[in-house]
Amino acid sequence: MKIAIGSDHGGFALKQEVIKHLTDRGIEVTDKGCYDEKSCDYPIYAKEVTSAVTSGEADYGILICGTGIGMSITANKVKGIRAALCHDNFSAQATREHNNANVLCMGARVIGAGHALMIVDTFLDTPFSNDERHVRRISMIEE
Ligand code: RB5
Repeated sequence: MKIAIGSDHGGFALKQEVIKHLTDRGIEVTDKGCYDEKSCDYPIYAKEVTSAVTSGEADYGILICGTGIGMSITANKVKGIRAALCHDNFSAQATREHNNANVLCMGARVIGAGHALMIVDTFLDTPFSNDERHVRRISMIEE
Protein backbone atom coordinates (compact mmCIF):
# COMPACT_ATOMS: atom_id res chain seq x y z
CA MET A 1 0.00 0.00 0.00
CA LYS A 2 1.28 3.47 -0.94
CA ILE A 3 0.22 6.64 0.85
CA ALA A 4 0.70 10.28 -0.16
CA ILE A 5 0.52 12.70 2.77
CA GLY A 6 0.42 16.49 2.98
CA SER A 7 -0.27 19.25 5.44
CA ASP A 8 -0.07 22.98 5.94
CA HIS A 9 1.80 24.54 8.88
CA GLY A 10 -1.14 23.81 11.21
CA GLY A 11 -0.90 20.10 10.46
CA PHE A 12 2.87 19.79 10.11
CA ALA A 13 3.64 18.29 13.56
CA LEU A 14 0.85 15.72 13.31
CA LYS A 15 1.92 14.86 9.76
CA GLN A 16 5.38 13.95 11.05
CA GLU A 17 3.79 11.63 13.65
CA VAL A 18 1.58 9.97 11.04
CA ILE A 19 4.58 9.45 8.72
CA LYS A 20 6.53 7.77 11.54
CA HIS A 21 3.55 5.60 12.47
CA LEU A 22 2.98 4.43 8.90
CA THR A 23 6.68 3.85 8.27
CA ASP A 24 6.85 1.77 11.48
CA ARG A 25 3.94 -0.26 10.07
CA GLY A 26 5.96 -0.93 6.90
CA ILE A 27 3.71 1.26 4.74
CA GLU A 28 5.33 3.32 1.97
CA VAL A 29 4.67 7.03 2.52
CA THR A 30 5.48 9.94 0.22
CA ASP A 31 5.62 13.30 1.98
CA LYS A 32 4.26 15.99 -0.38
CA GLY A 33 4.94 18.82 2.10
CA CYS A 34 4.85 21.23 3.73
CA TYR A 35 8.30 20.71 5.20
CA ASP A 36 8.33 23.11 8.17
CA GLU A 37 5.98 25.17 10.34
CA LYS A 38 6.22 28.40 8.32
CA SER A 39 2.78 29.71 7.38
CA CYS A 40 1.70 28.30 4.01
CA ASP A 41 -1.40 27.69 1.89
CA TYR A 42 -3.17 24.34 2.32
CA PRO A 43 -4.59 24.15 -1.27
CA ILE A 44 -1.04 23.65 -2.60
CA TYR A 45 -0.63 20.43 -0.62
CA ALA A 46 -4.20 19.25 -1.22
CA LYS A 47 -3.44 19.48 -4.95
CA GLU A 48 -0.15 17.56 -4.61
CA VAL A 49 -1.73 14.73 -2.64
CA THR A 50 -4.91 14.43 -4.72
CA SER A 51 -2.82 14.36 -7.93
CA ALA A 52 -0.84 11.45 -6.47
CA VAL A 53 -4.09 9.58 -5.79
CA THR A 54 -5.79 10.27 -9.14
CA SER A 55 -2.62 9.38 -11.08
CA GLY A 56 -2.29 6.06 -9.23
CA GLU A 57 1.03 7.01 -7.65
CA ALA A 58 -0.67 6.51 -4.26
CA ASP A 59 -3.52 4.25 -3.16
CA TYR A 60 -4.75 6.74 -0.55
CA GLY A 61 -4.05 10.30 0.51
CA ILE A 62 -3.91 11.84 3.97
CA LEU A 63 -4.33 15.61 4.38
CA ILE A 64 -3.92 17.51 7.64
CA CYS A 65 -4.48 21.19 8.39
CA GLY A 66 -5.62 23.01 11.53
CA THR A 67 -9.23 21.92 11.24
CA GLY A 68 -9.11 19.52 8.28
CA ILE A 69 -11.88 21.61 6.72
CA GLY A 70 -9.83 23.61 4.21
CA MET A 71 -8.10 20.43 3.05
CA SER A 72 -11.39 18.54 2.63
CA ILE A 73 -13.11 21.39 0.77
CA THR A 74 -10.16 21.63 -1.62
CA ALA A 75 -9.64 17.90 -2.13
CA ASN A 76 -13.31 17.30 -2.95
CA LYS A 77 -13.08 19.72 -5.89
CA VAL A 78 -10.87 17.18 -7.70
CA LYS A 79 -12.72 14.67 -9.90
CA GLY A 80 -12.28 11.13 -8.62
CA ILE A 81 -11.43 12.24 -5.10
CA ARG A 82 -13.69 11.29 -2.21
CA ALA A 83 -12.16 13.05 0.76
CA ALA A 84 -13.57 12.40 4.23
CA LEU A 85 -12.99 14.64 7.22
CA CYS A 86 -12.85 12.23 10.17
CA HIS A 87 -12.33 12.93 13.84
CA ASP A 88 -13.69 9.62 15.13
CA ASN A 89 -13.18 5.95 14.35
CA PHE A 90 -16.79 5.26 13.43
CA SER A 91 -16.67 7.84 10.62
CA ALA A 92 -13.31 6.52 9.38
CA GLN A 93 -14.72 2.98 9.18
CA ALA A 94 -18.05 4.06 7.66
CA THR A 95 -16.52 6.29 5.00
CA ARG A 96 -14.34 3.45 3.75
CA GLU A 97 -17.20 0.92 3.79
CA HIS A 98 -19.88 3.22 2.34
CA ASN A 99 -18.13 6.00 0.38
CA ASN A 100 -14.93 4.20 -0.65
CA ALA A 101 -13.16 7.39 0.48
CA ASN A 102 -9.68 7.68 -0.99
CA VAL A 103 -8.44 10.67 1.03
CA LEU A 104 -8.55 11.06 4.82
CA CYS A 105 -8.57 14.63 6.17
CA MET A 106 -7.96 15.51 9.81
CA GLY A 107 -7.56 18.64 11.89
CA ALA A 108 -4.49 18.78 14.09
CA ARG A 109 -6.10 21.46 16.26
CA VAL A 110 -9.19 19.28 16.79
CA ILE A 111 -7.89 15.89 17.94
CA GLY A 112 -4.77 14.57 19.68
CA ALA A 113 -2.09 12.51 17.96
CA GLY A 114 -3.03 9.21 19.66
CA HIS A 115 -6.60 9.50 18.42
CA ALA A 116 -5.47 10.59 14.95
CA LEU A 117 -3.23 7.52 14.58
CA MET A 118 -6.14 5.21 15.50
CA ILE A 119 -8.28 6.94 12.87
CA VAL A 120 -5.52 6.52 10.27
CA ASP A 121 -5.29 2.79 11.05
CA THR A 122 -9.06 2.34 10.90
CA PHE A 123 -9.27 4.19 7.58
CA LEU A 124 -6.44 2.22 5.95
CA ASP A 125 -7.47 -1.17 7.34
CA THR A 126 -11.16 -0.99 6.40
CA PRO A 127 -12.11 -2.28 2.92
CA PHE A 128 -14.93 -0.87 0.77
CA SER A 129 -18.09 -2.96 1.26
CA ASN A 130 -18.70 -3.27 -2.51
CA ASP A 131 -22.39 -3.30 -1.63
CA GLU A 132 -24.53 -2.55 -4.70
CA ARG A 133 -26.26 0.45 -3.12
CA HIS A 134 -22.96 2.06 -2.18
CA VAL A 135 -21.48 1.41 -5.64
CA ARG A 136 -24.59 3.05 -7.16
CA ARG A 137 -24.33 6.13 -4.92
CA ILE A 138 -20.64 6.60 -5.68
CA SER A 139 -21.41 6.39 -9.42
CA MET A 140 -24.04 9.11 -8.87
CA ILE A 141 -21.39 11.33 -7.26
CA GLU A 142 -19.09 10.80 -10.24
CA GLU A 143 -21.90 11.77 -12.65
C1 RB5 B 1 -4.41 27.87 9.12
O1 RB5 B 1 -4.35 28.84 10.10
C2 RB5 B 1 -5.79 27.23 9.10
O2 RB5 B 1 -6.71 28.11 8.56
C3 RB5 B 1 -5.75 25.95 8.31
O3 RB5 B 1 -4.83 25.08 8.88
C4 RB5 B 1 -7.05 25.16 8.21
O4 RB5 B 1 -7.60 24.96 9.47
C5 RB5 B 1 -8.02 25.63 7.23
O5 RB5 B 1 -9.08 25.05 7.03
